Amino acid sequence: HFKDLVFSGMQPTHTLHLGNYLGAMVNWVRMQDTHECMYCVVDMHAITVAQDPKALRGNIREVTAAYIACGIDPKRSILFNQSQVPQHAELAWIFNCIARMGWLNRMTQFKEKAGKDRENASVGLFAYPALMAADILVYRATHVPVGEDQKQHLELTRDIAQKFNNDFAEEIAAGGHGEAFFPLPEPMIQGPATRVMSLRDGSKKMSKSDPSDYSRINLTDTSDTIAQKVRKAKTDPEPLPTETAGLAARPEADNLVGIYAALSGVEREAVLAEFGGANFSTFKGALVDLAVDRLAPITDEMRRLTADPGHIDAILAEGAEKASAMAEVTMKAVKEIVGF
Ligand code: ADP
Ligand code: NA
Repeated sequence: HFKDLVFSGMQPTHTLHLGNYLGAMVNWVRMQDTHECMYCVVDMHAITVAQDPKALRGNIREVTAAYIACGIDPKRSILFNQSQVPQHAELAWIFNCIARMGWLNRMTQFKEKAGKDRENASVGLFAYPALMAADILVYRATHVPVGEDQKQHLELTRDIAQKFNNDFAEEIAAGGHGEAFFPLPEPMIQGPATRVMSLRDGSKKMSKSDPSDYSRINLTDTSDTIAQKVRKAKTDPEPLPTETAGLAARPEADNLVGIYAALSGVEREAVLAEFGGANFSTFKGALVDLAVDRLAPITDEMRRLTADPGHIDAILAEGAEKASAMAEVTMKAVKEIVGF
């Protein structure tokens, strides 16, 4: 009995990179044609690790500009900023009381992000997946387009929804909500490239947290920077294979071919049909041209948008108003269900 609704978000901790673009954004934009969509700038997630307040405020606007420049239309989708909708935090607290320590202890992203010094990680970093569950479920969203790295968090969201539905089954039925108050949202791990790898190391995903800026292409990079990064990208000395099987033990080659395929909207096979047998310097030249062609209009549009912060703030305020109205319906019912 749940209406299809798409929810997703990104942290305003950094300039978006090609992994965010191909792994998430391209998909988000496409889904606007078929679904009702909500896209959030998740600043409350950002502060699970220390942020400089001035930089954070700028990054919230920059990520909002990136969403719009990539094709998220604030007239068709609800585009908003998490901290402006207090119901996210309200529901997150209730979910902190639903989720089990053991469930959160299993989250691999926490282990990665906390590193060796777990004792010094914020409680927020540990509880992050419960806030993420609240982000999604406060709208009772049914579909969540994310990259592969978020699969485990989505499973936890489903576990929280399921436990809430079970724990309060009687109250949920008595309140006239039927068998389940929360849907079990589906991860949608699809799109041109679900796992874009680092340009410096084919065994690591492209990530903002990589200390080397040469590991990623940012949506704000100039054409010259893109060219430099692609030329410096790690490869092996062999030419491109003619078939995808030839990419199997060559992660860096596979990644570059995958990026080319994703940016041009074709499969790896088609790229190899064109470039099989060519050496990497030739292929990298073509990849630079393609990446610049695709990304320069986005970069330009971001620059235009960020020049007018008032306009961005107005879009976010309007989105927050719509989101808040929806979230309040859920919270009113949740409070009754839990006995507040
Ligand atoms: P990061 O992974 O750089 O910390 P986020 O956690 O804010 O960035 O991720 C935002 C979205 O982008 C998520 O849906 C995530 O799955 C996707 N994403 C991030 N990095 C990649 C990547 N290298 N390949 C594909 N998708 C990615
Ligand atoms: Na991530």
